[in-house]
Amino acid sequence: MLTASATVDPGFRVGPVNRRLFGSFVEHLGRCVYTGVFEPGHPSADSDGFRTDVLELAREMGVSVVRYPGGNFVSAYRWEDGVGPVQQRPVRRDLAWHSLETNEFGLGEFLRWTAAADAEPMLAVNLGTRGVTEALELQEYANHPGGTYWSDLRKSHGAAEPYGIRMWCLGNEMDGPWQTGHKTALEYGRLAAETARAMRQAEPDLELVACGSSGASMPTFGEWEAVVLGEAYEMVDYISLHSYYWETDGDLASFLASAVDMDRFIEAVVATADHVRARRRASKRIQLSFDEWNVWYLDAHQAKPPPAGWERAPRLLEDVYSVADAVVVGGLLISLLRHADRVTAACQAQLVNVIGPIMSEPGGPAWRQATFHPFAVTSRWARGEVLRVEPVAPLLPTAKYGEVPVLDAVATSDGDEVAVFAVNRHAAEPVVLEVDLRAWPGARLAGTVAITDPDVYATNSRDEPDRVVPRPLAEASVEGGRLRAVLPAVCWAALRLTAH
Ligand code: AHR
Repeated sequence: MLTASATVDPGFRVGPVNRRLFGSFVEHLGRCVYTGVFEPGHPSADSDGFRTDVLELAREMGVSVVRYPGGNFVSAYRWEDGVGPVQQRPVRRDLAWHSLETNEFGLGEFLRWTAAADAEPMLAVNLGTRGVTEALELQEYANHPGGTYWSDLRKSHGAAEPYGIRMWCLGNEMDGPWQTGHKTALEYGRLAAETARAMRQAEPDLELVACGSSGASMPTFGEWEAVVLGEAYEMVDYISLHSYYWETDGDLASFLASAVDMDRFIEAVVATADHVRARRRASKRIQLSFDEWNVWYLDAHQAKPPPAGWERAPRLLEDVYSVADAVVVGGLLISLLRHADRVTAACQAQLVNVIGPIMSEPGGPAWRQATFHPFAVTSRWARGEVLRVEPVAPLLPTAKYGEVPVLDAVATSDGDEVAVFAVNRHAAEPVVLEVDLRAWPGARLAGTVAITDPDVYATNSRDEPDRVVPRPLAEASVEGGRLRAVLPAVCWAALRLTAH
């Protein structure tokens, strides 16, 4: 049998497990908002029209921070359309997704929803069709205590206290030609710097995210980050990263190794940010906000003709996820944790219906997709400090990434408990994982869960919502400070140990 060995030691500290790594994303796109989080009249809806079945699942997932309102949507959005009496809110065209936006759900609804979900809001401002003035007005409406035009308007809308939003995204994917109002790096870098400077005049301690390139395969990638940070370094705290993965042409081996690509992407952005830091002789280090990541069958989406009409809440990007997709999601979470010293915020895109771990039917049930589970378990079990794990494992050939270790892993510990997260990327063979827990000779196994299945393309559905669920590993034990577990082929697993 294939064997991988590793050592978990509290001395191999990467950084704290930042709760913001377990973020999600709610965009006005398809059915993410309407009939996703919000459906007045649904049997489970509360007095705000929030679907409590979806809300409960978001809580169960352990979603910590939620980015809103886009995405591509934000780049032509007028936030004022979504506040005040609902009957007076205008219906507008949403150019990004060729849909009708009724604005029944807006800023106040979103902030009540995040409060109910026990999550922090991460708000994006429109730097596509708008600029400094509108960002300042939104900030004043949201965060100023009162006695000014915009803050008093908020009060008149029923929110007496300021919302106190800390984390703001300065636009979205501004290098993408698909973005309404898309810009060159220099145009955007200047605008981001000036918007950030103005917002900080009111609140110096905001946490601000500049848009990185919209993906590592963009021709702008690298140069974009260097130019934008060259303009905005002192004014921002974060640079964003976006990346989506999917299986192409039956190449399961490369797909299962997607985290290798995420590792390389993160390390390239760190290098670029630190290059700008050196050039500017700055002491501050820019953090990474990986605020869009997921499995998304983007090629299938791009192959479809754009919608002809203007529909309200159309069914868009409703990918159905398999065991293999869930194993990849678990692997991507391992990559994010491994880089916890620099990646201090991350949002899986998106929360519900739109490439979502949660699905919901209008008037009907909500259920967990296969990808829900590795997220929920990692969010629940990753505690304390991230510990670097360097497995010694046989190599697997992949068409996209060359040879990659068959097994990947990371660990966390809060002193009392240790959690090991691992992936077997082999499409056909099990792997024995042997871990030396030398700092915890008395460690005991408290629980294991795994996502794996003889049918790697099995999925959950409305009729069979629990076809894919986490189950304990059949073979796992700890003795004398040594952990041994067998991970079947195509498997994501989490193992929890009490340290003493
Ligand atoms: O998450 C779906 C879309 O992907 C977002 O709107 C955009 O930012 C990205 O291209």
